[in-house]
Amino acid sequence: MLLEESRADTATAAADPAFRRDVLAGLAATPRAIPARWFYDQAGSELFERITHLPEYYPTRTETGILASKGLEFASLIGANRAVIEFGSGSSTKTPHLLRAIQPAAYVPIDISGDFLRSSAEALSQRFPDLPVLPVEADFMRPIALPGPVSRLPKLGFFPGSTIGNMVPPTAVDLLRAMADTLGGNGAMLLIGIDRIKSEDILVPAYDDAAGVTAAFNLNLLHRINRELGGDIPVEAFRHRALWNEGEARIEMHLEALRDVAFTVSGRAFRMAAGETIHTENSHKYGPRDARLLLRAGGWTVAREWTDPDGLFALILAEATPPRAAP
Ligand SMILES: C[S@@+](CC[C@H](N)C(=O)[O-])C[C@H]1O[C@@H](n2cnc3c(N)ncnc32)[C@H](O)[C@@H]1O
Repeated sequence: MLLEESRADTATAAADPAFRRDVLAGLAATPRAIPARWFYDQAGSELFERITHLPEYYPTRTETGILASKGLEFASLIGANRAVIEFGSGSSTKTPHLLRAIQPAAYVPIDISGDFLRSSAEALSQRFPDLPVLPVEADFMRPIALPGPVSRLPKLGFFPGSTIGNMVPPTAVDLLRAMADTLGGNGAMLLIGIDRIKSEDILVPAYDDAAGVTAAFNLNLLHRINRELGGDIPVEAFRHRALWNEGEARIEMHLEALRDVAFTVSGRAFRMAAGETIHTENSHKYGPRDARLLLRAGGWTVAREWTDPDGLFALILAEATPPRAAP
């Protein structure tokens, strides 16, 4: 018992204070909710990578198909010698299509999942030996100081994967504005992937696959809480749920208690009744006009938009909007 307590203390002491704060506040809130960025420890990043290869998960292959086929247009619209700043770069698997097309002067991948970021950056560096690759481990929701060598270069922000959909629209607008600041305002460009609204029959399986990889990704959050915050959540008493919320135009992921449960995290006690959930992720979907409006609200003007033949996913090139003169 003593040994277990001291293990819990050690885990709690070493934990990221922001993780502890978000988890304790989120478990105490009504409804219970924990921000999706905490999915991405090393195990979570690896599980997400497996999700991108699932037959049900159309976004990755659809967006990659668009990126792979539009290189000539990227080259003429974006031009060479920019610094590419990628937000939430993960495995950087889609990035080579863009780098080959536009011949940038530097590449800065930004991600919250540090070890995964560094190994992905190393692998990319080997494929592009002449390109300076400067990874930054950071939370892109906060202001980010870019590495010195890229400060004078014109910037292209790259934000694929419809990660913007993980934020509620007001937060998405704040992030788009912060990106315009990070990228240097006038003259900056942004290439962003935004998932479209479509049939529930396509959407729900993409977040609840037959092989159970998305379930493992969602449940990994509870394992991470137990490991890093000295928790004793009975993970087997929870199940993964994905549902389409029509009013909010988003897929929601939840962790549902299968029975009444009591547990502690960082020494704080929690109880959940059978059927209660912890809301763990939103994935908002946008129609073509919604997406343009979102970007405009965030300080970006759409220059060009591409989609796949079935209109499942959009890749949008936008330019930082000059300070507005009109009301
Ligand atoms: C949906 S995945 C997309 C990965 C990749 N860009 C793609 O298109 O497949 C989200 C990525 O963003 C990272 N991420 C999520 N929230 C973040 C945050 N607040 N700051 C930095 N990175 C974040 C995750 O670690 C993960 O790599």
